[in-house]
Parts: sequence; C-alpha cells; structure tokens
Amino acid sequence: MPKNSISVTDAIKTRRSIRAFLDKPVEKSLMEEVLQQAARAPSGGNLQPWKVYAISGEVRDQLVNTVSEKQATNPLGDGSEYNIYPPDLNDPYRSRRRDVGNQLYQLIGIPREDKAAKFAQLAKNFQFFGAPVGLIFTFDKHMGLGQHVDLGLYMQNVLLLCKEKGLDTCAQEAWAVWHQTIRDVVGIPQNELVFCGVAVGYADPGEKINELVSERASLEEFAQLKGFD
Ligand SMILES: Cc1cc2nc3c(=O)[nH]c(=O)nc-3n(C[C@H](O)[C@H](O)[C@H](O)COP(=O)(O)O)c2cc1C
Repeated sequence: MPKNSISVTDAIKTRRSIRAFLDKPVEKSLMEEVLQQAARAPSGGNLQPWKVYAISGEVRDQLVNTVSEKQATNPLGDGSEYNIYPPDLNDPYRSRRRDVGNQLYQLIGIPREDKAAKFAQLAKNFQFFGAPVGLIFTFDKHMGLGQHVDLGLYMQNVLLLCKEKGLDTCAQEAWAVWHQTIRDVVGIPQNELVFCGVAVGYADPGEKINELVSERASLEEFAQLKGFD
C-alpha cells in the first residue's frame, strides 16, 4: 500500500458525519482529484448519471448568505422536490432516525424540549457546518430508481476518497429544501433535481458534536446468508 494511504476497510470504519469544520481551505486540485477518481463508481449501463457542483469561496458564501437572509422570513425554504423521508416512516426506521437525533442533541447538551436550540443546530446545515466547500449533487429528473442508486454509489466513493485524502464530510439532504435558491446562486438547470449537499473540509477536533458515533443494526437485522456450508 502506498505511504499515507488507508485501506478501504479503514476508510469505511473511520468515516463519520462531521458537523463542525475548521476555517481551513480545500485546494481545488484536491477536490478535482476526489470528484474525478470517484467516477470509477459502477453504474447501470455505464450511464454515469451523477452530476456534482463543487462550490467554495464567494459562491459558497453567497449561497450561505442568501439562505440565511431568506430563512428569517421563510424558515421552511423553497420546499423539497422530493420526500426526504417517506411520510409514513415506520419502525425500525422511525426509531433509528429519532435515536440518532437524540444522541446528537444529548452529546451537545441540548435538552429534548428546547425546540429553539434544536432549530439553531439544524440551521447550521445551511452554513455547511462551517466547511469551506459544499458539494451539490443532482441528476437529470428523467432518471429512475436505478440511476438514483448510481448517484449514491458515486457519493459514497466521494466520501471515502475524501477520508483517504484527509478531508472530512457530512452528507446533507437538508439542502434539498433550498433547491430553487441553490439553482439560482449556483446556476443549476431546471431539468436537474437537487438531491443533496455534502460539506467538505477539515474537522474541528475541539468540537463535541464531532464525537458522535452513530449506531448500526446487527448483521442479522438486514442480511440473510443462505446455502453456505
Ligand atoms: C443522503 C444523506 C443525507 C443526509 N443529510 C443530513 C443532513 O441534512 N444533516 C445532517 O446533519 N446529517 C445528514 N446526514 C448524515 C446522517 O445523519 C448520518 O450519515 C447517519 O446518522 C450515520 O452517521 P455517520 O455518517 O456518522 O456514520 C445525511 C446522510 C446521508 C447519507
């Protein structure tokens, strides 16, 4: 293995969603390398349906500032183009979603009933949690389920390659509710669906919120192995 590299296993094991970043820029060449290398992801029919907009500097700041201004009068944003979660989310998914939220708020000392503090924490999504780079992932609205999965494969490559190169990340579906504002600021055509953002930068090691290690279900809950000796 080349010096400074990390195994796929270790990249998967050590990647975590990071929600507080240092004010330290990410070089354009490093970002290009990640986005290019990630495109070795497989896709049905080799369609490569993913699209990504990497924003930094003035463009990133303009998006963050525009959303921050709009939020004062319009806290719900532009409305999402898709259901981020099914409206009738059932168990065990509902409990998992609730539990990770509770763990996060408990870790940073926000009491269960403090809605204002929870909202303020959620709003940090729209500052990319202080990260210097935001990625906006889109795909052509014509695309179907198979291509949505392809985009996920590409995104996971991006997250793991970032880890390999010393960068931290947080995927952010929260950005979906500002799709029209993102379109206007970043210049994304109407035929693309704004699926998700990803914050990219260097974790702030002093921030408690970055200590969150989310739980995982046991193998038996989601996998069945049949016909093995
Ligand atoms: C597609 C996607 C969207 C997400 N959206 C958000 C988000 O808007 N805000 C946030 O804080 N975390 C978001 N997350 C992070 C998840 O909460 C996180 O991946 C999950 O709790 C597991 O934790 P881990 O990433 O630290 O392993 C998102 C993750 C994915 C894959």
